[in-house]
Amino acid sequence: MTAVEPELRRVYGAYPTGVAVVAGLVDGRPAGIAASSFVPVSLDPPLVSVCVAHTSTTWPLLGGLPRIGISVLGAHQEHIGRRLGARTGDRFAGVAWRSTAGGCVLVEGASAWFDCTVEQRVRSGDHDIVVFRVHDLDAALDVPPLVFHASAFRRLG
Ligand SMILES: Cc1cc2nc3c(=O)[nH]c(=O)nc-3n(C[C@H](O)[C@H](O)[C@H](O)COP(=O)(O)O)c2cc1C
Repeated sequence: MTAVEPELRRVYGAYPTGVAVVAGLVDGRPAGIAASSFVPVSLDPPLVSVCVAHTSTTWPLLGGLPRIGISVLGAHQEHIGRRLGARTGDRFAGVAWRSTAGGCVLVEGASAWFDCTVEQRVRSGDHDIVVFRVHDLDAALDVPPLVFHASAFRRLG
């Protein structure tokens, strides 16, 4: 039996995730997407992954950059998750961000961040599993995370 897409989305959505912003500097301006598919992969070497849809128009701009930032949003940053996940509009309008010397874009106030390069891409159905090597990272574990579950932004508790 092959489940149809709405059913797959509904059932996949039962798995709660965080929300990450994957972003970089494109022609001096920040560009990025929201991603609920962020997963830590390996400790040695330090690797993390994000699944990117082949339909993404922003990923082709990010994929060739020297550095890409991944910011794990806090519960207070739901508006940023909505804006970065929207198909239209200026995604970084009103978003406090910074860029590193290497050019990755990080969201200020996030609960964790990773400064990455692309290590590997694995074509998997209608997405690419993009594996990133982590060069620098930090976390503010006192910042509660934003949660995405059943197609809705939620908070813990
Ligand atoms: C909560 C949330 C999570 C998302 N997670 C992913 C994801 O893991 N992978 C992905 O390719 N797109 C994901 N998206 C969609 C992208 O953020 C973005 O809307 C999509 O890439 C289309 O924009 P683009 O054409 O500029 O790339 C998510 C959107 C939202 C709102």
